[in-house]
Amino acid sequence: MSDKNFKGEIRVASRIVDYLSSGLYDSPAACLKELINNSFDADATRVEVFVKPDADRLIIVDDGDGMDRKEFEKHFSMISESHKRDDSDMTKSGRPKIGKIGIGFIAANEICNVMEIVSTKFGSSELLQVEIRFDLMREDPNKRRRGDSEIAKADYFGTVDETTKDSHFTQIFLKEVRGEAQEILARKGRGKFVSGKRSIYGKKPDSISKILKDKNIKTWSDFDFYSKNILQIGLNVPVRYHDNWLSDKLQSEVEDIDKHVAGLNFSLYIDGTEVRKPIVFGSEEEALINRFHFKGEHVSADGYFYAQSTGIKPQELRGLLIRIRSAGVGEYDSTFLGFPPSIGSLTQTWISGELTVDDRLEEAMNIDRRTLRIDHPAYVELQEEVHNYLSDLLKRVRTEIYGSRSIIRKKKRAKEVEKKIVRIATHEIAKVAPESAKEIEKAWIDSTSDESVQKKILRKFTVDQFYEIVVEVAKEVLPPKFVNDFIKRLTDRLRR
Ligand SMILES: Nc1ncnc2c1ncn2[C@@H]1O[C@H](COP(=O)(O)OP(=O)(O)O)[C@@H](O)[C@H]1O
Ligand SMILES: [Mg+2]
Repeated sequence: MSDKNFKGEIRVASRIVDYLSSGLYDSPAACLKELINNSFDADATRVEVFVKPDADRLIIVDDGDGMDRKEFEKHFSMISESHKRDDSDMTKSGRPKIGKIGIGFIAANEICNVMEIVSTKFGSSELLQVEIRFDLMREDPNKRRRGDSEIAKADYFGTVDETTKDSHFTQIFLKEVRGEAQEILARKGRGKFVSGKRSIYGKKPDSISKILKDKNIKTWSDFDFYSKNILQIGLNVPVRYHDNWLSDKLQSEVEDIDKHVAGLNFSLYIDGTEVRKPIVFGSEEEALINRFHFKGEHVSADGYFYAQSTGIKPQELRGLLIRIRSAGVGEYDSTFLGFPPSIGSLTQTWISGELTVDDRLEEAMNIDRRTLRIDHPAYVELQEEVHNYLSDLLKRVRTEIYGSRSIIRKKKRAKEVEKKIVRIATHEIAKVAPESAKEIEKAWIDSTSDESVQKKILRKFTVDQFYEIVVEVAKEVLPPKFVNDFIKRLTDRLRR
């Protein structure tokens, strides 16, 4: 073999690592997130994903720092840990690196049989091309044993070519995409045949944001599989928010967060569609933002909680989303880290929050990057703080949002009653007693402007209370011989 060509076996350090790096990322979204976050760590500013129409092949292209043969072999001949943070845990451009465990890349074996890398680094004329074949993976682990503890995971075949020194990029081809993943990405899954499924394919951020605000969309499952995968990816990777993801007033309260994410300067396009965070809230009249800042002994966290006066839609946004180093940890947790469901259970569905938590919680993160170890001190401390915070927030939501909603309802009702009274006065009473009609109008008009009048107009009398008042007034103004007749007629009318 010439100097230009090389080959080898990708091995993992133990049966456990082999096991852990398989079956973790079974959905295309989960696998693509890993690859996209790798591009972020390589300081890419733009990542483009292309899904061939039948989704037999996926291409992920970034304009990042790239890798050379040495780096490839260092990481891939023996997968045991990541060397990404060896020198620094920040990228050259100052991003906190997301990768840590060193198995994200190879987990693509879950969704494809062959993976090809084409990459070059800035200032190097070396063009790296490697093909990784996962056929081995489909074999019995016992046949894949190498030496005492190592397990072979794939074969690789590489060449080194020449390219211009100033180019830098990484292209990853996922070939022979497997069964379910292919079906999902090809937009030919079940979804297509169910009428009414929505799609974001080929749409611009503005239209996507409008669709996400649509109250008729209850869940991401109202979208086809392809679109749902894009939403899931957007939730996890460090892309920007939509331009109008909140009302202007509320958005100004999270301006720093908005700016920070935009400042990461990272954009993602899937089949030409720009992917943003799928976090968009409907324009509820009654909504609020409550900021969260916590510096504890074991962990610190910052973020916001949004609350509105009805259940959040799509429901995937209900709960709490934790981010570590700008990448999501799993999806929204609708239990808010196990908050008692009995406390304001309905109001809990009105709340959606995001917290960026420091690296100490990263230690509590399980290898799947989706779940946290709930006995870790950082988790325990954060959980307690979030729960105390949430108790207060639920109170604020009840008084400010729910309270204000019922005040508005009351005002509306008072206005309606007022209208009816004025109508009776002008249509009925004015005919027999024009003076009194005017009095009535004067007494009740604008009942909504004064809270005590409002209360009076909405007051409910029982029949006996009503008799008492009417009889008293009748006795005051009518000659005794009419009182009897009056009460008799009144009783007849009320019983009719
Ligand atoms: N898009 C990319 N650009 C440059 N290097 C990459 C890219 N993707 C992966 N790598 C290299 O491959 C290594 C392995 O990636 P991965 O398995 O995801 O582990 P981790 O991200 O935890 O380091 C990375 O540490 C990095 O050196
Ligand atoms: Mg990674």
